[in-house]
Amino acid sequence: MAQHQGATAGTVDACVRRIRAGQQTAAEAADQLIAELTEDELLWLLDGDTPIQAALKLMSRMKAGPVVGGAVARLGIPGIRFSDGPRGVIMGRSTAFPVTMARAATWDPALEREVGTAIGLETRAQGANYSAAVCVNLLRHPAWGRAQECYGEDPVLTGRMGVALTRGLRPHVMACVKHFALNSVENSRFKVDVTVDEHALHEVYLPHFRAVVAAGVDSVMSSYNSVNGRFLDVNKVLLTDVLRDEWGFEGFVTSDWVFGVHDAVGSLEAGLDVEMPLRLVRARGLPAAREDGRLPHPLVVRSAHRVLRTTLAHLATREQAEPSLEVVASPAHRALARRAATRAMVLLKNDPVGAAAILPLDASIGRLAVIGRLATEANIGDHGSSMVDPPSTSSPLDGLRAALPGIEISHLDGSHIAAAAEAAARADAAILVVGMDHRDEGERIQNDDADLSVLGFPFTLRPLRRVIGWLVRTRSQFGRGGDRATLTLHASDERLITAVAAANPRTAVVLIGGSALIVEAWRERVPAILHAWYPGMEGGRALADVLTGAAEPGGRLPVAIPTDPAHLPFFDAEARTITYDAWWGQRKLDRDGHPAAFPFGFGLGYTTFEHTLVDQRVGETDGTATVRVRNTGARVGSTVAQLYAVDTALERPVPQLVGFQRVDLDPGGEVTLDVALDLTPIRQRDPRTRLWTRRPGSWGILVATHSPSVFDDVAPLAAPSA
Ligand code: BGC
Repeated sequence: MAQHQGATAGTVDACVRRIRAGQQTAAEAADQLIAELTEDELLWLLDGDTPIQAALKLMSRMKAGPVVGGAVARLGIPGIRFSDGPRGVIMGRSTAFPVTMARAATWDPALEREVGTAIGLETRAQGANYSAAVCVNLLRHPAWGRAQECYGEDPVLTGRMGVALTRGLRPHVMACVKHFALNSVENSRFKVDVTVDEHALHEVYLPHFRAVVAAGVDSVMSSYNSVNGRFLDVNKVLLTDVLRDEWGFEGFVTSDWVFGVHDAVGSLEAGLDVEMPLRLVRARGLPAAREDGRLPHPLVVRSAHRVLRTTLAHLATREQAEPSLEVVASPAHRALARRAATRAMVLLKNDPVGAAAILPLDASIGRLAVIGRLATEANIGDHGSSMVDPPSTSSPLDGLRAALPGIEISHLDGSHIAAAAEAAARADAAILVVGMDHRDEGERIQNDDADLSVLGFPFTLRPLRRVIGWLVRTRSQFGRGGDRATLTLHASDERLITAVAAANPRTAVVLIGGSALIVEAWRERVPAILHAWYPGMEGGRALADVLTGAAEPGGRLPVAIPTDPAHLPFFDAEARTITYDAWWGQRKLDRDGHPAAFPFGFGLGYTTFEHTLVDQRVGETDGTATVRVRNTGARVGSTVAQLYAVDTALERPVPQLVGFQRVDLDPGGEVTLDVALDLTPIRQRDPRTRLWTRRPGSWGILVATHSPSVFDDVAPLAAPSA
């Protein structure tokens, strides 16, 4: 870009000093900078700085450092210095945390905030100022390929965890929440149109975005899909009427990458501030529109102002100490990753075999058979934009060998079922590690769906599209992943489980995957099942901690596991249009009278708890429930007190999570908790007035250890106190 001569460099620094001294607001400083910028520089702020010629090198650039948009060196404007993402920083060799879905299973916002702090520090230490780690799309169907990047099916859990991550990030980097909105099908993400009515939109699919906006998130990333017939970049209803006018968002909106902008001027009008990351649709379209008068100057200034004001406010309020590169994958962050992984693992079943349950493993066992191809893989998630490349990893087998040095551990990959069964028969117990990997699920770019014409060439010829598709697949990591073909395990894994469990009744199955896995074909054949998700770089060690009892499995399901895919909402990975209603996950199972295999919120520990609701104070939108919790078992352990509101007048009540709190207690220990309530799930929004009121019904409240199906202990929900 041609640089305008004559103005002083370092102007941003001066603005930041004035803001910090209270002499100027960030908005005033942004106006001042805008007055200094040339017309070309103003447009420069509205898209990424990477030239289109570098498109195929984008992946390697993202690993090497931040991807920048809108840097203007002569005024010291740093630009948006972007890095992903949800399970750790994708640059360099950073800490790979358990995936977002796993962290949702911790139900531990304080821990999530610590993870946010760590990701923020590692992002900043590597030169970025903007992190797209906060992914809060609601899981409508567990086959979604990117399920692992979000916090599961519940708006309250998703909102609390997204807010916690945002709060952790923000002292170090600008936080971006994505993908706004209703992005939860992968294969057709560039084309699918989601039809949704105002109720489902505002009451189910958006409350958690709103919560993150209310918590001060700096930026919102629009999604690729369209909603009610308008792609998000040109969707004024969502980007302006809802996000700005109704919610009061003051930060800036960026597009999802490369294929997320369809109209240079139209997107600016609708409220999309920055096209990321290439000089693409806007670089081609905006200068011409300016020349022929189709580009209103105030629109350019509006978006430039949002970007600069937010950046300046961030620079003035962030922690002033610069983190050194030593924070990246530091021992403290690895320890955090390990702690988060143990807290995330959900013990679904742990029946006694003979006198005792097989988990935690009995210290007296002499021989352990560890079976499965995934037992030797550090399986840390998909190969999409959130892929992290940590400096080291630990597989389940590594973890168990290190934790149990005195025990003879054999490993078979399970490709020969009879041999695996024999090894299991010879051992005192068998651990089977089965499930998914990046080939089965994750983000993908598929040539057929991406609209290559955004690159500025007429890609209408099939052979040309094929070549480009091949290039995208080979030059990037995105060739695999996509939505899941099946919700069960692979048939070979199911055969392996059946054979191994028949050979040794002391068999525990460890599941790896990004969301619900249907286990009906073999659930009754094994005494123990542990869902480990994609547990991150310390996953093997964390798994060993849990299996040996050094830590307890702290996880609770952030998604219901059904018995039959037919009980779930309609899902078509190739759909061009789809309707999202207010019936999904546990709520749909409850409404339709289909018991879950494992309900939302479920998870066993190594001890037992008693929960009693003792009091409640309720306002219009929020409140507090007082709950007494007692550890009734013989071990230290943790539980999650879950508060559900329920309309008891319904023949089939549909519980709604309205609050939760995790607590750790010694054996016999007792504590009284004040649990914050968020009553949004029992409120409705009038589309005409945009006002919210409590939904009619006989509302009750109860404390439970998972989404309940028995309602004996329901207390009437107090009327809102004045
Ligand atoms: C993904 C975003 C991501 C971006 C940059 C896109 O393909 O959908 O989630 O932040 O790439 O990596």
